[in-house]
Amino acid sequence: MIAPSILSADFLNLGRDIEMLNRSHADWIHLDIMDGHFVPNISFGMPVIEAVAKIAKKPLDVHLMIEKPERYLEVFRKAGANLLSVHYEGAVHLHRTVAQIRSLGMKSGVVLNPHTPVSVLEPILPYVDFVLLMSVNPGYGGQSFIETTYGKIRMLRRMIDEAGLKTLIEIDGGVNEQNAPLLQQAGANVLVAGNAVFKAPDPVAMIERIKGVR
Ligand code: DX5
Ligand code: ZN
Repeated sequence: MIAPSILSADFLNLGRDIEMLNRSHADWIHLDIMDGHFVPNISFGMPVIEAVAKIAKKPLDVHLMIEKPERYLEVFRKAGANLLSVHYEGAVHLHRTVAQIRSLGMKSGVVLNPHTPVSVLEPILPYVDFVLLMSVNPGYGGQSFIETTYGKIRMLRRMIDEAGLKTLIEIDGGVNEQNAPLLQQAGANVLVAGNAVFKAPDPVAMIERIKGVR
C-alpha cells in the first residue's frame, strides 16, 4: 500500500492535490502533525485535517510528532483521523494511549525513530494495528533514506510473524521508486511518500510506480 504525505503538497491548492489522491492508487493519505517541541518543525493542525476530511475518499493516516499526544486523541478523531499513530519516544503510558485510540474507533499505531530498536515493541505489538518505522529523523520532508531501516523491517517482520499477528509495517521517510521494491521485499506493507510523489511531474503515475502496479 502507499500513503502519500501531504507535507509536500501545494497548500495553496490542497483541494486539488486531495482530488488527485482520490483518483489515484493511493491507499491512505498521510498527515504529519508537528508541534515544534517533539520535533524542531511546526506543520499544520486541526483546521487542515478537517478540511481534508471533507473531500478525502481515502482513510486519513495521522502521524503525531507532538509532546503528550494523549491530550489530543479525541480531537484528532473528531477532526477526521481514521488511523492515529504516536511515537514510542513521546508516549510515557503507551499501552493506555494505544488502547484509547482503538476505543475511539481508530486504528492505532506506534512509531519508532531511526535509533530506537524494534525489540522495544514486543510487549505492545498485540495492542497496535500498525507500526510506523521512521527511515529519516522526523521533522522534515525530502530527507534521504537511512539504510539501517531494512534490518529493522526484517527483524520486525519476524517478530510479527512469530507472534501470529496481523500488524502492518509502515515506512516513513525518503521512500522513492528505487527503494520501494526493496522495502516491500524486506516485509513492509505501507510506504509513506511525500517528496517522491508531490515533486514528480506526474504524481498519479509515481504513486503507481512506488506501489509496483506500473
Ligand atoms: C517526516 C514525516 C514524513 C515526511 C516524508 O517527519 O513524518 O511523513 O512527509 O517525506 P519524504 O517522503 O519527502 O521523506
Ligand atoms: Zn510522517
